[in-house]
Amino acid sequence: MSSFDAVDLIRTKRDGGTLSDEEIRWLIGAYTDGVVGDEQMAAMAMAIFFNGLDDRELPTWTTAMIETGDRMDFSPLTRPTADKHSTGGVGDKITLPLAPLVAACGVAVPQLSGRGLGHTGGTLDKLEAIPGWRAALSNEEMLRQLEDVGAVICAAGSGLAPADKKLYALRDVTGTVEAIPLIASSIMSKKIAEGTSALVLDVKTGSGAFMKTRERSRQLAETMVALGTDAGVKTSALITDMNAPLGRSAGNACEVAESVEVLAGGGPADVVELTLALAHEMLAAAGVEADPEKALASGRAMDVWRAMIAAQDGDPDAPLPQAKHTETVAAESDGWISGMDAMAVGVASWRLGAGRGRKEDPVQAAAGVTWSAGVGERVSAGQPLFTLHTDTPERFERAKEALAGAVEIASHRAERGSVVLDRVG
Ligand code: URA
Repeated sequence: MSSFDAVDLIRTKRDGGTLSDEEIRWLIGAYTDGVVGDEQMAAMAMAIFFNGLDDRELPTWTTAMIETGDRMDFSPLTRPTADKHSTGGVGDKITLPLAPLVAACGVAVPQLSGRGLGHTGGTLDKLEAIPGWRAALSNEEMLRQLEDVGAVICAAGSGLAPADKKLYALRDVTGTVEAIPLIASSIMSKKIAEGTSALVLDVKTGSGAFMKTRERSRQLAETMVALGTDAGVKTSALITDMNAPLGRSAGNACEVAESVEVLAGGGPADVVELTLALAHEMLAAAGVEADPEKALASGRAMDVWRAMIAAQDGDPDAPLPQAKHTETVAAESDGWISGMDAMAVGVASWRLGAGRGRKEDPVQAAAGVTWSAGVGERVSAGQPLFTLHTDTPERFERAKEALAGAVEIASHRAERGSVVLDRVG
């Protein structure tokens, strides 16, 4: 392969030019191999932050990232596959009820997930609250579980798009995460390498999301849908509200408990709405006609959940861990909740120990925040609204600071509208 000078490529992008396909392929490969240094890639990421990647550069960039690693192959499976990716939100436990629900409708769901960093929780951290449950599976175990049970949620191996792993860590410390082409290529390189035939994206928008406006969220959704479609993956996206947190809990064990409630036919209305909306999208993308409402109501989705947890050595009947200490925060006035700041709730849950500050930190299984009423519901002054859960009570103060001013209470009835705001694809 030809060799280029990284400084020339950085100057080209800095000055608003475009990179050739060959230059992009060289750059990504050389960065992964350590030939291009972190300081050079950081400068390139900043140049892309300001000047973007065009419609030719971006698919090439994404493919080059995929080619630095392995690709999974689900073709031996007898059922179609569909996957979901969320850009991350507070209280976003949707993967937990969704994967078994879609599997109960006849579609295999390979859900390669990560651990949380910062105020949004990680799916693996949540499931690890279940006694015995194991996140690491070999490729063979994963394929067998997909064939036998239909759904698997497990840790993504380090072999998928290693260029992204390195680049994402670099972006995290250089203020270059929030660039649409870099986010889109980061997410889609991993999803395309994963080998699913259909993909539904849940692009969050609002205070608890990293895309704060509808316009930016739609732009990100359109960019990712175009990349997926280009790579032969049937891709669509829902743009969903993340101004308020989802459901009634943010944390680990408490989100598992809420997911089980949904699978048992109950659960908060917004979690049920989003789970069903994404299930419909995934089934349509996989070309399977089935009714997820029926699979939920009949208990078939719960049966798959139990089998999915047991297949990974978890005990679906074991009591979930309870925090050693709890404290409540009361509603400040009478009225209807008209807003609950997702970011504030996420930060509080994180400070209680549900999330980590550095990627090597442990998390507390029982830590988190639960709330007794959400947007659109009536509260009275003094009523316990939030319950804070932690094993380390010295964390309460900082968590309460995060929640100060997080709830708006109106004197007139305020409705929580639909969680699904828009669709792309
Ligand atoms: N999630 C990713 O995987 N990559 C990003 O760039 C942002 C969120």
